[in-house]
Amino acid sequence: MKNLDNYIIKNKKVLFRADFNVPLVNGKISDDSRIIAVKKSIQKLIKQKNKVFIVSHFGRPNGKINKKYSLKFICPTLKKVLQLNKLYFLETLNSEQIANKINEVLYGEVCLLENIRFSPSEEEIDLNLTNFITKHFDVYVNDAFSASHRNHMSITGFPKYLPAVAGDNFIKEMQNINLFLDNGKKPNTAVIGGAKISTKIELLNNLIELFDTVAVGGAMANTFLLSNNIKVGNSLVEKDLIDVALDIQNKAKKFNCNFILPTDVVCSNNNKTKNNIRHCNVKNVSPDHMILDVGQKTIKMICDEILKSRMVLWNGPLGAFEYKPFDSGTIEMVNLINKYAKNMQIKVLAGGGDTLSSIKSAGSAKGFTYVSNAGGAFLEWLKGNESPGVKALKENNI
Ligand code: 3PG
Repeated sequence: MKNLDNYIIKNKKVLFRADFNVPLVNGKISDDSRIIAVKKSIQKLIKQKNKVFIVSHFGRPNGKINKKYSLKFICPTLKKVLQLNKLYFLETLNSEQIANKINEVLYGEVCLLENIRFSPSEEEIDLNLTNFITKHFDVYVNDAFSASHRNHMSITGFPKYLPAVAGDNFIKEMQNINLFLDNGKKPNTAVIGGAKISTKIELLNNLIELFDTVAVGGAMANTFLLSNNIKVGNSLVEKDLIDVALDIQNKAKKFNCNFILPTDVVCSNNNKTKNNIRHCNVKNVSPDHMILDVGQKTIKMICDEILKSRMVLWNGPLGAFEYKPFDSGTIEMVNLINKYAKNMQIKVLAGGGDTLSSIKSAGSAKGFTYVSNAGGAFLEWLKGNESPGVKALKENNI
């Protein structure tokens, strides 16, 4: 696979894929890891006097122009992170305007293109537009590992027409996740949280075969609890997945996997109500309450398993971590990892957008062996699926 060390890019027009799909809280970037992640590659390209045109998506505008999803808001942060005097922004993907902009931008300067998902061609991989765009450039660099599981124009289309090179962040993500998976140490524990089972069925089925303990938290645990006839009040549940939740638990038994579900929880009427918070056994959730975090006994149970492990994988917060105090369980687990993992030689790999944000709010990641900034792509990789983006880079022989 071509990378920025084995393939020299100098005085070229570079089409650079980043993933600036960053989390926002009240309109502000709550985690800029994905912007910082591409700094090294872009600075290398600037130093080597290339014209760098950055392409990214933001949100899911479904092929339509929608101001809400404009990437313009990234510009000040991007300019600061890259330490640029000037950053251009191009609002359209029109081939002629790209050509004009390329003439205007000097070698060693950077231009950000508007959200690529404003064009229906991104997800449809319209080869005409792919060709129109790529003909203005000399080389394509993909530094968006976190978007590499998408079979989209800017991931798999551009490499059909240009020499395609993996950026430093792309290589770092792939190497670190592989290093962890290839050096499996037992006993091992996977902690999986987040809102929905539906996005993690295949992952859970895989993990059960590979891990001694799989602990489930977050709203996705509610569906498992309900499948065991535990009443969860107004909690978020995926009723149509009750059978799937049962199948997963049966499979865990078959594989002798210690499948941990919350035994106690923190509840309230909703995630904003702070004066009606109750800690209770999972069997005593009031009908008008929703489960918003794991309780003390559960977090202790999960932490005990982590301390017994030599390898830990974590994806997804254990509660509604965006709303204090429902971040407590997740923060407690992060603090435990920070305090003990390195000393006790426990290897910890974490990944996923919300996972990253919760580590940030805990204030330190010093106990973690590696924290990936990829969400869906990280999960696909763990499932053992080689992403289309990786394949496109590997197979590129232009
Ligand atoms: C992510 O946030 O996981 C990536 O940016 C991919 O976004 P998507 O799920 O909207 O394709």
